[in-house]
Amino acid sequence: MQKKILVATGGGDCPGLNAVIRGIVKRAAQEKDWQVYGCIESFNGILKDNIEIIELTERTVSGLHIKGGTIIKTTNRGGPFHFPVKQSDGSWITEDRSELMKKRLENMGIDAVINIGGDGSQRISLQLASMGIKVVGVPKTIDNDLSSTDFTFGFQTAVQIATEAFDKLVTTAESHNRIFIMEVMGRDAGWIALHTAIAGGAEVCLIPEIAYDPYKILERIESRYKHGEGFCNIVIAEGAKALDGQITGAAPSSIGDEHVKLGGVGYKLQQELKALAVEHDIRVTVLGHLQRGGTPTAYDRILATAFGVKAFELVKEKQFNSMVIYRHPHISSVPIKQAIAKPNLIEPDKNYFVHAAKSIGISFGD
Ligand code: F6P
Repeated sequence: MQKKILVATGGGDCPGLNAVIRGIVKRAAQEKDWQVYGCIESFNGILKDNIEIIELTERTVSGLHIKGGTIIKTTNRGGPFHFPVKQSDGSWITEDRSELMKKRLENMGIDAVINIGGDGSQRISLQLASMGIKVVGVPKTIDNDLSSTDFTFGFQTAVQIATEAFDKLVTTAESHNRIFIMEVMGRDAGWIALHTAIAGGAEVCLIPEIAYDPYKILERIESRYKHGEGFCNIVIAEGAKALDGQITGAAPSSIGDEHVKLGGVGYKLQQELKALAVEHDIRVTVLGHLQRGGTPTAYDRILATAFGVKAFELVKEKQFNSMVIYRHPHISSVPIKQAIAKPNLIEPDKNYFVHAAKSIGISFGD
């Protein structure tokens, strides 16, 4: 009798999602008695009034390792416990459709679910597991903020994209004697900013884990200019904040939205520096979703493929309620509960890359 797996991708998209899907399907195809299905738009595909689920075959996933995004779509709104439903008056409410999901999984004969996603998605995995649904998690986020794993796929690609953008800003900053501020993603964790600052040769790197003092940034800027000539490049994570400051963003605008929408901290810093009478021209570039799109780097394709293979093997070995991890040199797993117990933040006093960055003159505004 055929056994069935349902795969979902949840949260923001991330380079490498398709490579994970391909890894699962190709590994499952080695076994002959497994069928893999994709749930469209995270779990919405099985929660909607009209179910949207597709069969994933070796043919469907052929060549997917190089493709960005996710062929089964994703969302960072809602989920089985807070499914958004539009009312006849146009307003929205959220409904708990988790029991409906469980019933539908049983009716379809689904043996296990593989949920590929970040911390929000893995919290859903844990809740589903507590209802008796057999779940395996795969960690995904460009922010690299999930602990238990050395890296999440998508992170290296985001750093590569950010570094290439930064390199371009450096040459124009130099030509114009300007200060450039480049805002990158990184909601709670500054990994993208830290790695980009080192790879790109920034003068200043601002991360959520270190509240910055604008006066310290001013000092570093002034050290770069002589007789009005010089330039300075700053990378700032979207979740960074000044001492006693607030994060910069807008409250969730749609029902079921997972997070505050961050953005604009680069412009805020520009104002803070102008308020300190910085006379040099200051320009801001917000990299935004460019960091999440396009083809994954070779590293991320490899990591994502291995994660997909491991996810299938955990299902086959009935090691449910676990999440795939990478702890060099091993791909293994931990209980999902452990995986989401705390976020993977930079520990400034312990992290060698912070030390290395400071040692070559990169200021963290502290
Ligand atoms: O979690 C990854 C992330 O890239 C965050 O850094 C960012 O704040 C968020 O996604 C933005 O997601 P979206 O614009 O899709 O809501």
